Amino acid sequence: MRKLILAAASIAAMTFAGPALADSPIIIKFSHVVASDTPKGKAADKFKELAEKYTNGKVKVEVYPNSTLYKDKEELEALQLGAVQMLAPSNSKFGPIGIKEFEVFDLPYILPDLKALRKVTDGPLGAQLLKKLDSKGMTGLAYWDNGFKQMSANKKLVAPADYKGLKFRIQSSKVLEAQFRSLGAIPQVMAFSDVYQALQTGVVDGQENTWSNIYTQKMHEVQKYATETNHGYIGYVVIVNKKFWDGLPADIRDELSKAMKEATEFGNSQSAKENDEALEAIKKAGKTEIISLTPEQNAAMRKAMMPVYKEVASRVGQPLIDEFLKETGQPPIN
Ligand code: LMR
Repeated sequence: MRKLILAAASIAAMTFAGPALADSPIIIKFSHVVASDTPKGKAADKFKELAEKYTNGKVKVEVYPNSTLYKDKEELEALQLGAVQMLAPSNSKFGPIGIKEFEVFDLPYILPDLKALRKVTDGPLGAQLLKKLDSKGMTGLAYWDNGFKQMSANKKLVAPADYKGLKFRIQSSKVLEAQFRSLGAIPQVMAFSDVYQALQTGVVDGQENTWSNIYTQKMHEVQKYATETNHGYIGYVVIVNKKFWDGLPADIRDELSKAMKEATEFGNSQSAKENDEALEAIKKAGKTEIISLTPEQNAAMRKAMMPVYKEVASRVGQPLIDEFLKETGQPPIN
């Protein structure tokens, strides 16, 4: 795969640098792993529409959804090599390339609501985190929402004890690994595009994701139960290849920044609605029983997962965790 990415990267470099192509549009390949009909998919399409409009066609954005170009791990490699210019991986996917700090977003129950999230992403902490990307040849442009995660399996998941011994697919985050271990479950890192089949064939027993991702990947067709836990959050960092971005004419970069700002506002204003609608669609499909937890059951889940904070403090950074809680108006967790 690496060879293929390298070949694509050199073609991209030739295309971008070619003097004979001065009048042809600048191409931005934007690869992502979810369906078009999701918060991220819609924000990416909105960015394309606005970027092409504001640059009067001087920029052409090619959006490749649903892992059609690259899967999770490959897409980050492809961006660093310049085979694609733009991505929006979830916060949980930066650990393997050496940026562990975004895993703070993976901590269980770290966000009481989306308003608290904005305090981080629109504030100094959000900016400070984006800066970390520079050293990896990436520029962070925006934070895009998906929403809160739910649990699903072929077994009813109500109490922490129900998770014991079950295999759960996770994204490539050590915090998520610790989270499932805190429940006595067995976490297994897997690319998003492989989840449906893994659930269908029983390679894993369950998974966690937002309603929108569960519905658009048809996971509800192969999971008998889903529990409304809202125990964690999935959001994205929009990144662009730094060399590509810095090499753009300043006026083009300004127009693209404007398009990104508006696409972000658009996407983030729709995400909660998208997830609500996906939940309704799952209910309507009638293949999955949706379980709601009582406040006591919620509290028991929360209590079971709290040791994760201590466990990952040295990886994610205790000062960062403390700052995150402070910014979102929450007391320290010990
Ligand atoms: C996942 O891998 O479950 C998600 O990060 C996919 C996505 O991009 O929403």
